[in-house]
Amino acid sequence: MTRTVYYTASSLDGFIADPDNSLAWLLSRDIDEDGPMAYPGFRAGIGAAALGATTYQWILDNDPDGWEYTMPSWVFTHREFAAHDGITFTTDDVRAVHAAMVEAAGDRDVWLIGGGDLVGQFADAGLLDEVWVQYAPVTLGGGAPLLPRHVELRLEEHARNREFLCARYAVLPRT
Ligand SMILES: NC(=O)c1ccc[n+]([C@@H]2O[C@H](COP(=O)([O-])OP(=O)(O)OC[C@H]3O[C@@H](n4cnc5c(N)ncnc54)[C@H](OP(=O)(O)O)[C@@H]3O)[C@@H](O)[C@H]2O)c1
Repeated sequence: MTRTVYYTASSLDGFIADPDNSLAWLLSRDIDEDGPMAYPGFRAGIGAAALGATTYQWILDNDPDGWEYTMPSWVFTHREFAAHDGITFTTDDVRAVHAAMVEAAGDRDVWLIGGGDLVGQFADAGLLDEVWVQYAPVTLGGGAPLLPRHVELRLEEHARNREFLCARYAVLPRT
């Protein structure tokens, strides 16, 4: 059954980008890509993805390969971006987009790339199943928040991967 998973890296104080929208604090760190809970293993199980406009713009501006993902993806935005194969730019409600993502993902999982408020919109709709966080050994004091909502979680798995503390949480039903 398809799970909807927020997989991201965070500072210890809960920010996924610093106040300048930089990931320098993250990308300089040591991680074993073949090690526990690392991205390539996670990515292999993903069939569709969603992200916000700021994250998409960051990738266009900073990733030398640009948008290199091949899975069907939805970018939530009111901005005008150039059309791109496999990407749907949308202002639709997260419920409608989620239904399309689950269908596109087949027997794979759905990845919510971020940012935190967009993931919060999925959580508000009861559509978030898991949160995976790779905690970098740094505090930032401010920036883009990891998940600016009250979401109750249960720790399911944890591991050390070189500099990172990696944790997988199940989202608990709201009472
Ligand atoms: N640490 C990591 O692994 C990691 C992972 C992901 C992202 N990041 C970084 O974290 C930062 C995230 O920033 P963020 O939280 O501000 O951004 P974000 O979610 O990437 O983008 C926010 C924007 O998404 C659009 N949006 C959100 N919900 C929408 C909806 N329901 N309908 C239509 N548009 C919607 C709006 O764009 P419009 O302005 O177009 O309305 C909004 O301003 C970025 O710098 C990113 O690079 C880091």
